[in-house]
Amino acid sequence: MYRDRLCSDVGESDIGKRIKLSGWVFRRRDHGGLIFIDLRDRSGIIQVVFSPDVSDKAHLIAHSLRSEYVITIEGEVRKRPEGTENLSIPTGTVEIYADNVVVINKSVALPFQIDETEETSEYLRLKYRYLDLRRQSVQSNLIIRHKSAQYIRNFLDSRGFLEIETPMLTKSTPEGARDFLVPSRLNPGCFFALPQSPQIFKQILMISGLDRYYQIVRCFRDEDLRADRQPEFTQVDIEMSFVDTTDVMGLTEAMLKGLFNNILDIDIEGNFVRLTYHDAIERYGTDKPDIRFGLELRDISNLARQSSFKVFLDALNSGGIVKAMAAKGMAGLSRKEIDLLTQEAQSYGAKGLGWIKVKGGFESPIVKFFPEDVLKTISDSISAQDGDLMLFVADKDDVVNTVLSKLRVEIAKRLGLIKDSYKFVWITDFPLLEWNDEERRFEAMHHPFTSPTDTDMELMKSLDTTSPNLYSEHFELLSSLKAKAYDIVLNGYEIGGGSIRIHNPEMQNTMFSLLGISKEEASNKFGFFTEALSFGAPPHGGIALGFDRLVMLMVGANSIRDVIAFPKTQKGQCLLSSAPSPVDNKQLRELYIKTVNI
Ligand code: AMO
Ligand code: AMP
Repeated sequence: MYRDRLCSDVGESDIGKRIKLSGWVFRRRDHGGLIFIDLRDRSGIIQVVFSPDVSDKAHLIAHSLRSEYVITIEGEVRKRPEGTENLSIPTGTVEIYADNVVVINKSVALPFQIDETEETSEYLRLKYRYLDLRRQSVQSNLIIRHKSAQYIRNFLDSRGFLEIETPMLTKSTPEGARDFLVPSRLNPGCFFALPQSPQIFKQILMISGLDRYYQIVRCFRDEDLRADRQPEFTQVDIEMSFVDTTDVMGLTEAMLKGLFNNILDIDIEGNFVRLTYHDAIERYGTDKPDIRFGLELRDISNLARQSSFKVFLDALNSGGIVKAMAAKGMAGLSRKEIDLLTQEAQSYGAKGLGWIKVKGGFESPIVKFFPEDVLKTISDSISAQDGDLMLFVADKDDVVNTVLSKLRVEIAKRLGLIKDSYKFVWITDFPLLEWNDEERRFEAMHHPFTSPTDTDMELMKSLDTTSPNLYSEHFELLSSLKAKAYDIVLNGYEIGGGSIRIHNPEMQNTMFSLLGISKEEASNKFGFFTEALSFGAPPHGGIALGFDRLVMLMVGANSIRDVIAFPKTQKGQCLLSSAPSPVDNKQLRELYIKTVNI
């Protein structure tokens, strides 16, 4: 037997007892006569004292102990002398006087210290992930992740959901990223795709009558990585039959509230805020707004038209817009500071950044281009007060929105407006389709299985989707179609998205043709699915939460890498195992694959 219990389970009620513990040498302090060891296991640390008065032999061995040696100790629990307590740890009022110690395993010198006092590069942390994972902060993230998954499983089970696994080796599911492909040795020249999500299978489970499905499931997407994106990530994937948007949103809301209450002891009061996609873009410039602070944007194109400022007029005349926001209390910025802000805006894609200080009157080199009353109306529309700095970007709408939405967050950070709290917001009324200018075709904004609203469904039925001029004849109408889709956003991060699905095979085919997918392609890729829809599919819908992002926000981490045991780098590599790596030719031949030099 290696131990009686875990380190942190020892307390004052054990004083006088002999106890056996095992773990790692965390810190060692040699005070000449006495040697102190902080012994660590998953539960935490406890101080072990080696004294020649208690055991010469144990004291001698304690001299040779080094960081991260694995040891077993035995000894008596004593109360720490007054003044030597450490109230920052649960076991801080006691210590163990060891009379026996066994070195179970040694450790070579460490590439970095396990205690978190020093900054360690992420490269080293990921290469030696097993050491990084010994750190309490990383372990505590994984514990919260585990408890969250456990809570979600229990919650969904109590609501009648079945956890059902779906294939990893499958066919492409269009979620908008590139697929990871897996060659099939038994079917030369054929490939599986790893699932971007279980979308098609969960819908098929509804067609099969399973009624309520969930899965905490790995998804794979070959896309460019960021702090909140990994090539493999985890979704809490949910699908329900005989439901509409409010049912899915209501269930998700109850689950998230319960999760925050149970795991973080935080009450999320009231209903989650709801914003239409249109309003989110209008007011925040993004469909993932952080609504913990104001600094809202306003479209002032009509007012800008009344100016003689060429930069604004040129942008408007070439189909662009002008938007403004008020940077609170920033009218005191120097020219140099404003130049830096302009450079920041340019790094987000702006050509320039217009500014006007509100200081008694209006101050800026561009003030002369605006009638006084127009300036007043502009400042009123963004609630700019004395001492504020009004900022403007003129460009194509997507550039303006991207730049100002990012600037808005940066300025809020600078002004300390972002409070430690959780603000959920539902984004609703998404457009069904999105124009892809490069490919000159419409794409599904969510995915091709998302249902249009009931009125738009009727409109779509009246379209001749076989017409070669469909896009040019109906561009406005197609752009205005709305979907029964919703995203859930938390503190500026999209933590989930879902929709009510198309359950009628003809409507599904109409959707494919609107997306420019030929009958042949639709039948090759999704024929099995539209066929399934034709055997009596119930109305159904669902959602998928990005579990890594959710846990990242719950623990207050900056990257989802901090809540994944073995994450990949920005370049999609696992530094621990050095994957991906070349394979030998024999393996390739078995798969009928030839590599070419690029
Ligand atoms: P969607 O594509 O919006 O929807 O994905 C759902 C959620 O998954 C998270 N997410 C990611 N997290 C980390 N790394 C990634 N690369 C990554 N990509 C997505 C996001 C996102 O909101 N099948 C649909 C759901 C449905 O319609 O039910 C789907 O996958 O938090
Ligand atoms: P310029 O005429 O280029 O000297 O610009 C005059 C002012 O307008 C400067 O403060 C620029 O930063 C600003 N400006 C330039 N382009 C834009 C733009 N696209 N949107 C907003 N302001 C701009």
